Amino acid sequence: MKKNQNGILELLSDKPLIPVVTIKDLEQIDATVDTLLSRDINCIEITLRTSVSWQAIERVKKYHGDRIKVGVGTIINQEQIDKAMDLDVDFLVSPGFTSQLIKGLDASKIPFLPGVSNVSQIISAIENNCNTLKFFPAILSGGLQALENFNQLFPLVKFCPTGGIGAVNFKSFLELKNVVSVGGSWLSK
Ligand code: 3PG
Repeated sequence: MKKNQNGILELLSDKPLIPVVTIKDLEQIDATVDTLLSRDINCIEITLRTSVSWQAIERVKKYHGDRIKVGVGTIINQEQIDKAMDLDVDFLVSPGFTSQLIKGLDASKIPFLPGVSNVSQIISAIENNCNTLKFFPAILSGGLQALENFNQLFPLVKFCPTGGIGAVNFKSFLELKNVVSVGGSWLSK
């Protein structure tokens, strides 16, 4: 049977920490990967927010792909999904979603994590057969209390909160029943 969201929950299940990395200078990428591995973090989400993002993703896949799972973040259109497929990346993350985007993500066969920030979006995600979701921007959208409420309403939905999470608060998020992983830029700094 086909796995939900191409197996994102299985992929995240042994990855409680997802570093969200924005590369401004390509020379930075090898050191960033080394830092993550030295902290026993074996995955990286590289955002599509700079002119060198794709080069960074390609480089990590090519030189470090055997040691680290490489995700593409900030996916918002089909062109990006196609490019990520060409590079054979390991997972896809979107800050939000539309039904059209979900169709493209699902067809990619790559595990994917769509983003939500409120209850209506969670309902819409469930309607699109998605029940493992990025909660973004987590702190601005209600943080721990919002997630506790979501658990009452949607006990089967799991979240990866990101946005405003850091060394001081990540453990409280991971303790929640409906949180599978937490993400953030603090992990690679
Ligand atoms: C993301 O895309 O998940 C966020 O930009 C990460 O947010 P942070 O910098 O607050 O961790």
